[in-house]
Amino acid sequence: MDLITTRTLSKAFIEDILQKAQGYEKAARAKKNLTVLKGKTLATLFFEPSTRTQMSFQAAMLRLGGNFVGFSDPKSTSASKGETLADTIRVVEGYAHAIVMRHAVEGAPARAAELTDLPVINAGDGSNQHPSQALLDLFTLQQEKGKIDGLTVLLAGDLKYGRTVHSLMYALSHYDVDIQLFSPPSLKMPESIVNDVKERVSVKEVTDFGDADVVYATRVQRERFADAEEYQRSLYTIDEAMLSKIKSDAIILHPLPRVKEIAPEVDLDSRAKYFQQSFYGVPTRMAILETLIGASND
Ligand code: NCD
Repeated sequence: MDLITTRTLSKAFIEDILQKAQGYEKAARAKKNLTVLKGKTLATLFFEPSTRTQMSFQAAMLRLGGNFVGFSDPKSTSASKGETLADTIRVVEGYAHAIVMRHAVEGAPARAAELTDLPVINAGDGSNQHPSQALLDLFTLQQEKGKIDGLTVLLAGDLKYGRTVHSLMYALSHYDVDIQLFSPPSLKMPESIVNDVKERVSVKEVTDFGDADVVYATRVQRERFADAEEYQRSLYTIDEAMLSKIKSDAIILHPLPRVKEIAPEVDLDSRAKYFQQSFYGVPTRMAILETLIGASND
């Protein structure tokens, strides 16, 4: 099995991952290495920059008793000599039991999955999808709010180019939630995604944070803009003044990295949970790796 998009995930799969992640939380927190994937190797192929996603997949593999090979700078690989993705995948197939891949080209991980029988996990493809992030975001809601059903979840920022929110829309649509969208007119959530989910879940555009139980801020994706001025115009900041307009029991999330979207002073507020959220990447990715790679035979 591959993990390429949340669009086609079943609720049963999502719930299974959340339950397994819960089971792994303690080991992840204690940085204790288990033996579930002993003898297994993960390939982490990062053709685009990454800190959290790459390192938390690697940490998750180590926590499960496995190991990893990979690269984080395609300039240091034969891709820079002109090697095709197909050849890279064929080669990596001989070195690993599963592949985690991030690529600037939308659909590249899906293409890789067609080329190999190994499980392929999409760790972000252009502006398209980032499914493991959406699963860890749901796990964060479960841990920090105690539930997912009944929540009003506000997605703020770059809803056009942000792949994390695209994946999160589909993942949330399995639950009884109200989704609120807050963005500049030029960075709205693609209509195709809203249309896909709106039969299952309520989606509306809002102009303030007042009703939200969860404020999910995103980075304006500078690398996807052709026009530098449009980028500058799209920037926004959640600062101390804005905090007073957010519910006292709400949580503030961000997939990180943040640039200007959340002022550093917000970190001191008890509602700020984005660093917790990045930690939850480890148990969630342990659950994903265990599910896709399976238990070791030896
Ligand atoms: C995100 C990404 O790469 O899409 N980062 C992450 O994986 N946590 C968000 C971003 O880059 O803005």
